[in-house]
Amino acid sequence: NKDIYVLGIETSCDETAASIVKNGREIISNVVASQIDSHKRFGGVVPEIASRHHVEQITLVIEEALQRAQMEPQELDAVAVTEGPGLVGALLIGVNAAKAFAFANSLPLVGVHHIAGHIYANRLEQEMEFPLLALVISGGHTELVYMKEHGSFEVIGETRDDAAGEAYDKVARTLNLPYPGGPHIDRLAHASDGAIDFPRVWLEEGSYDFSFSGLKSAVLNYMHNAKQRGEVVPPEHVAAGFQNSVVEVVTAKALRAAKEYKVHQVIAAGGVAANKGLRTSLSGAFEQRGIPFFIPPLSLCTDNAAMIAAAGTVMFEKGLTGNMAMNGRPGMVL
Ligand code: KG4
Ligand code: ZN
Repeated sequence: NKDIYVLGIETSCDETAASIVKNGREIISNVVASQIDSHKRFGGVVPEIASRHHVEQITLVIEEALQRAQMEPQELDAVAVTEGPGLVGALLIGVNAAKAFAFANSLPLVGVHHIAGHIYANRLEQEMEFPLLALVISGGHTELVYMKEHGSFEVIGETRDDAAGEAYDKVARTLNLPYPGGPHIDRLAHASDGAIDFPRVWLEEGSYDFSFSGLKSAVLNYMHNAKQRGEVVPPEHVAAGFQNSVVEVVTAKALRAAKEYKVHQVIAAGGVAANKGLRTSLSGAFEQRGIPFFIPPLSLCTDNAAMIAAAGTVMFEKGLTGNMAMNGRPGMVL
């Protein structure tokens, strides 16, 4: 059996990333150029700025991934790129770079769904066991995904409004914390000696869907009313209260889904999976039930190209390759 080397490319949001992964499991090189500093002063990702940065960075990042791996393009077996979802202008840079690279080096091209990438980040750490439940929780997504085998994704629950990370970032903004706010809320929540009691949003009985905009509004209203009364609210109490609500609901739904679907493994993915409170709560809950639970290291939770190469390898092995007609698909479904 010959080893398979895949170059992954990711540009769906605000990281320009390229990585080479061996056999879908082993990172050979992993380069991420973050643009966070350019977006910080706007309090969020500005699509036009993101595209411009990707254009500037993409060639350098791909070259660096090859260089760090000490590999030549002809030693690769395929090029995998995030086809969607994401910002259209940002996606286009990665897709076109991947097409050009694949064409110039006569390599097959694989289009990867960004969420499939987040899920397959776990495979860079340990083999996936099916049936599997994936909790994908990031700035753009909050989904419970059931997988009965490689490459098969069934979304059993998703957010009906804001993604969890989006809610984190908005709450952080009202607390005057810098973007992205998730890590700051996490830090404050941990240091807090108290927590405000915000509502838990469960939706209809049995639903695996999520809703975070009501919680976000509850936080904003609380802050507004306190201000009107001239009260000073310790920001850490707000952060802790908000985080408690998110963590309790997400943990309970993931646990119930894992039991109902009798999965052999639960994995978490996405930027919010970096959250300390959530990690502790989820690992505690699954350990108690004896269900194997994994979260990739922080650097593989947030956007990167190793996860795209890992997911792309499985697709390549299944013969799911694309062609030069590939386009960025901002609304791509899993
Ligand atoms: O996966 P990701 O890098 O990008 C998307 O695909 O969305 O996730 C970014 C999101 C941001 O909303 C950020 O605030 C959140 O992940 N995040 C966190 C933490 N670290 C990053 N949220 C809560 N706690 C954290 N420690
Ligand atoms: Zn992401």
